[in-house]
Amino acid sequence: MLAGKRVLLVIGGGIAAYKALDLIRRLRERGVAVTPVLTRAGAEFVTPLSVSALAGAKVHEALFDLTAEAEMGHIQLSRSADLIVVAPATADLMAKAAQGRADDLASTLLLATDTPVLMAPAMNVRMWDHKATQRNLAQLRADGVRFVGPNEGDMACGEFGPGRMAEPLEIVAAIEAALTGGPLAGKHVLVTSGPTHEPIDPVRYIANRSSGAQGTALAAALRDLGARVTFVTGPASVAPPAGVAVVQVETARQMLAAVEAALPADAAVFAAAVADWRVANAGAQKMKKDGSGRAPALEFAENPDILASISQRTEGRPALVVGFAAETEKVVEHATAKRLRKGCDWIVANDVSPETGIMGGSENAITLISGAGAEAWPRMGKDAVARALAARIAAALA
Ligand code: C5P
Repeated sequence: MLAGKRVLLVIGGGIAAYKALDLIRRLRERGVAVTPVLTRAGAEFVTPLSVSALAGAKVHEALFDLTAEAEMGHIQLSRSADLIVVAPATADLMAKAAQGRADDLASTLLLATDTPVLMAPAMNVRMWDHKATQRNLAQLRADGVRFVGPNEGDMACGEFGPGRMAEPLEIVAAIEAALTGGPLAGKHVLVTSGPTHEPIDPVRYIANRSSGAQGTALAAALRDLGARVTFVTGPASVAPPAGVAVVQVETARQMLAAVEAALPADAAVFAAAVADWRVANAGAQKMKKDGSGRAPALEFAENPDILASISQRTEGRPALVVGFAAETEKVVEHATAKRLRKGCDWIVANDVSPETGIMGGSENAITLISGAGAEAWPRMGKDAVARALAARIAAALA
């Protein structure tokens, strides 16, 4: 599938540059022609000789290399590939690209090109989390740059968190997705996420502790596989991903209306923590203490079950409907019963007892329940869960 493709590989300056050497081998094994570009900082980590030997091609390093200008020119170099891959994409390279700076060969190539760009970031976790990097990431995404990783884990600097460059084979998969449109190209996937807020009166509401992290990660992972994603979200504490159609709602009833309006979809994933009940006698005005010492009696009405109503549609049901089950005991038993009761295809079950730290945390340990049974996955970052689930969804829709 990749044979005959041409990749311009920009190797930035980071300890992960050694993985770029393996990436070159993996690409060449698949018949990809790799033209390497090494930044000055990149050359501190890997030598031009090893890069060119593995690539079987000349390494481009300097912007004002007259031979290179005469042979090809940096403008042409940037356009002679099917895809530009930046691995590792350092914080500095991302910042330059986000700002459109062109003060060395790598940044000039990125500015001069109309070829799609895929970045595999690698940096210290604090640098990745820094507002400036996140701002640059959002800008680059908005500009159409694709990303793979970073992954969470132990880092060369001794810290732990997101910042490790994606593994070479993950980058190869992302390259394949970028060049072919991805396994979910042409598919529409709907994702609900976040909590709902159910008003008590105009200033108070009933909510839950869902952060929206898992739904957001899932929408991003589905987008990365090429899906058109509609993301219906309650008031979540994490920002919605870039590059998806965001519909913001507050209540369960608004969420149902937004979901129905977004159909048809090939798959629908209901990751939102929807309130089961709303206040039936919500005040039109702010409720006041009346001096009697008596608390107001709230009456509740059941909210529509969005997952069940979409699962049980006779017309326009998405081919794959996935629900989530947040349980605090008998997780598999309750979730298996829930799958049958609601009529969805899969249930992603997780234990949200406070001691697991899952609700509002960055990790998740799920059991995927389908007609074929229950499959327990190891505990991993919510991003990794999202990527694995997105890959499963792609396989199911293929
Ligand atoms: O019944 P329970 O709330 O545990 O079911 C969880 C699943 O059902 C989640 O996928 C959630 O998004 C969905 N749900 C829904 N509408 C509701 C309640 C839950 O879509 N009113």
